[in-house]
Amino acid sequence: MQFLQNFSPQLLVDSPGRINIIGEHTDYNLGYVLPTAIDKKIQFKFQKNGSAGICNIYSQSYDRGFTADLQLLNPSTIEWENYILGVLDQIVQRTDKLKGFDCVIESKLPMGSGVSSSAALECGLAMGLNALFELGLSKETIVTLSRDAEHNFVGTKCGIMDQYASVMSKKGHVILLDCKTLIPNYIPITIAPYKLLMLNSNVSHNLASSAYNTRREECEKGVQILKQMYPQINSLRDVSLEMIDQSKNSLGDIIYRRCSYVVKENARVLAAAAALAHNDLNRLGILLYESHQGIQYDYEVSCPETDFLVHFSKTYDSILGSRQMGGGFGGCAITLIHEEAIPDYVNDVAKAYQKKFNITLSPFEALPDEGTKVTVIK
Ligand code: GLA
Repeated sequence: MQFLQNFSPQLLVDSPGRINIIGEHTDYNLGYVLPTAIDKKIQFKFQKNGSAGICNIYSQSYDRGFTADLQLLNPSTIEWENYILGVLDQIVQRTDKLKGFDCVIESKLPMGSGVSSSAALECGLAMGLNALFELGLSKETIVTLSRDAEHNFVGTKCGIMDQYASVMSKKGHVILLDCKTLIPNYIPITIAPYKLLMLNSNVSHNLASSAYNTRREECEKGVQILKQMYPQINSLRDVSLEMIDQSKNSLGDIIYRRCSYVVKENARVLAAAAALAHNDLNRLGILLYESHQGIQYDYEVSCPETDFLVHFSKTYDSILGSRQMGGGFGGCAITLIHEEAIPDYVNDVAKAYQKKFNITLSPFEALPDEGTKVTVIK
């Protein structure tokens, strides 16, 4: 792209991916999650270009770019462009201070691996433009507008977890986030000599495909049905297992399993936060395995590859727990493992995975890190 020849950035943004210790598909049900940003990031470089609304965006990772006009923002047929366009659209709905800019993006985050490169892309862009043009948007607004961008331009009706973790995390902590009130509780994570090992399955059965949105609809349907007997409830957050059991017949098998998974997963998040606070890593590990059980059989968002990775770890004493992380149908297995066992285990599991699926596993360690960092270049 033309602008690259004279590019002299005024602002840098480091926008992190996230992990989630536990609490999947609880966020849009207004429950609890336990995520944190990690040390793997997308970097953005920005300069103003003096135009009224011409925005040039170049991705080094794809070696591709595109130009958008703030006066003419519509969804694209190219998926990654929609994360950008959606954020621009959300910003122009809120302020007329945004003007033309040039931006170079470089990602160190594996796409589609369940560490939420999408939220890192949305929030990094929004945080950068907010600083560059002094838009005056609060971090909370940036988190919600980035989520709304994904709803409207990408079409995934995601919850708030990924954007919140990417922007709001503190180094060395996980966030126990109440997705109903958006009140965070930062919990220090000190798990040595254990570590959080990510086993990237390198499969991603597309999240934007209907399955994610279908799960959300099934939960909403469940709430509607439960409301007939319990008018006081507004989301699965307000529901107990007893209520679900009482309504088993009217819910039907699928919605019954979806709802009970969510209610149990919420309880597991609270139990995991307590276990972390008391350094009870055995308990935490058991909760991870239980979570995967629910993900596999009740919420049905796992896949043979991640099921294999989670179940493979069960015979190793050095591993306390494991589960598929993120929206589902691929991505990473987050595995709580003794640090001394990592090299041998990685070797064993990668070999077995290759043999079974003919896919190369990508293991990496994820360190809890701070949220989005904006640096002004003097
Ligand atoms: C995706 C969504 C999140 C959350 C997870 C599942 O990452 O973006 O909002 O729902 O899936 O926990």
